[in-house]
Amino acid sequence: MEIIIRPSPEECASIGGRIIADLIKRKPNAVLGLATGSTPIPLYSELARMHKDEGLSFSEITTFNLDEYIGLPGDHPCSYQFFMREELFGKIDIRPESTHIPNGESDDIERECLAYEQAIAASGGIDLQVLGIGSDGHIGFNEPGSSLGSRTRIKTLTGKTIEDNARFFEDPNQVPRHCVTMGVGTIMDSAALMLYAFGEGKAEIISKAVEGPVSAMVPASILQMHPCVKVIVDEAAASQLANIEYYKEVYQNKPDWQK
Ligand code: PGA
Repeated sequence: MEIIIRPSPEECASIGGRIIADLIKRKPNAVLGLATGSTPIPLYSELARMHKDEGLSFSEITTFNLDEYIGLPGDHPCSYQFFMREELFGKIDIRPESTHIPNGESDDIERECLAYEQAIAASGGIDLQVLGIGSDGHIGFNEPGSSLGSRTRIKTLTGKTIEDNARFFEDPNQVPRHCVTMGVGTIMDSAALMLYAFGEGKAEIISKAVEGPVSAMVPASILQMHPCVKVIVDEAAASQLANIEYYKEVYQNKPDWQK
């Protein structure tokens, strides 16, 4: 795991933007895994800026989102379909048919989950997956206790996640109880992972995920087992890491060949 600590979310986002731009340069038809929530917004703003100012093209890219609520129509402002159109897809030159978000409105969710797994495999697999982390340690919507080998499926949200996400809804009682999410195993199949976290509210869970034991009770801790992970956090989210000084030193003294 590489732990990158920068002063602000914007500086964290610019690192991610560069990594994605380099990937697209090397592989114009790369497959990106995308996340929702407040955390990836600075990254998506940076990608939209790079598209506008630097001509970064997403025209051959394919994307797969991590998750979607069950029961919200795609035009609901809190659906992840709506979020992705507003925050990213509407601002870049990606082909709508190359974007994938689990369909939480399907009347056969199980078939939908299987088809999602098959579509990821048929695309050749995810080259780079962007992740946030829930304050309870979830990645995607894989709540504590999720099998570390799980695949795309229905999950019931924890009370903590419902409480955390109520801020996006006009009426907190509208937060759906269920979702479709890529499994932990699905996420771990990605060739590379980039996990973001910002703010003091994420400091405790980041220290558990990065430095604690690997446990299904902190699903993000499984990233310790992945060979290619960057954890990109601001100072506040890094503040409870025991090895914080070491991570900073490593980053500042990277040899040129590794930059
Ligand atoms: P947030 O959510 O970015 O809104 O904090 C992260 C997550 O639940 O994965």
